[in-house]
Amino acid sequence: MIGASSEKYDLSRKAYQQWFYIPHITHPDFAQSLIELVKRKRISQIFTPHQVIWNFVEELITDNGLNLTLVNTQPIETELQPYRECLESGQELFESTLSLATASRGKEKLLPIQYASLFRHARSIPGETDGSKIAALCEIMRYCPPGDIIEIGVLWGKSAFVLAYLAGNYSIGPLLCIDPWDRNYLPQGSELLMKYSSNTHDISSALMIFQMNLLPYGRGNINYLQSPSNEAYRDYCSNLFVKSQVFGLTSYSGSVALLHIDGNHGYEFVRQDLALWQKKSVRGGGL
Ligand SMILES: C[S@@+](CC[C@H](N)C(=O)[O-])C[C@H]1O[C@@H](n2cnc3c(N)ncnc32)[C@H](O)[C@@H]1O
Repeated sequence: MIGASSEKYDLSRKAYQQWFYIPHITHPDFAQSLIELVKRKRISQIFTPHQVIWNFVEELITDNGLNLTLVNTQPIETELQPYRECLESGQELFESTLSLATASRGKEKLLPIQYASLFRHARSIPGETDGSKIAALCEIMRYCPPGDIIEIGVLWGKSAFVLAYLAGNYSIGPLLCIDPWDRNYLPQGSELLMKYSSNTHDISSALMIFQMNLLPYGRGNINYLQSPSNEAYRDYCSNLFVKSQVFGLTSYSGSVALLHIDGNHGYEFVRQDLALWQKKSVRGGGL
């Protein structure tokens, strides 16, 4: 693999076995130097992350009948495509109706661009919350009264982000994320799930990944307890201030506006989560 650039001291140089200097793209000798290098080194493929150079090289290949291909698709197109997809998803969600059986009057839907932003950021977070679940959360949170948002089972923070975003938009209340982030709590009531998820779910780094994902949105409105949900419940009952080095201090009200149970999916665990945490739900709160 050969690298080339017009920088005399290019930082990428050390990543290549061979390196060549070519003039800057605006220099009259650029095209000829590149063609000569391609022929001399029998280069068959070119990668360039720069859109202008990509366009230039594409034209150069056609005009000179070079036996050469561009490895990557248009760089800007590649970067913009996910935004276009999220704009579409945002519009779709805005136009869709998922009616809830409720007597209360919901708040307004978000704007298509707000949904698009939600999708764009959520899609950058790994996890187990897909588009239809995001849509359901968007709808449920329109009907949430003020209060705390409790998430049991956080992993890398995908649904936590969605909850924080919606809670902020609808001024519902702070988010408390609860997860032991400990491999002993991964079984989910099934040995089979444990066996086949242990390679991919590196739980030791999941807490840090969650922090990285949620920090940009945490302004005193997000915090976490690294413990199983039953222990976290005891803490929540005795102390409504949660302090962590990363998120600082968050003050909770003790009334739960929305309870998202996505921790241990074993029957007894879900029953226990419901039995404990529902005692704190406010009238009209979501589950
Ligand atoms: C299905 S994942 C959560 C997915 C996450 N909500 C998302 O959007 O990607 C389940 C999580 O529950 C956590 N968990 C397991 N037992 C738990 C317990 N007793 N209390 C709280 N969390 C628990 C696991 O550590 C794991 O991170």
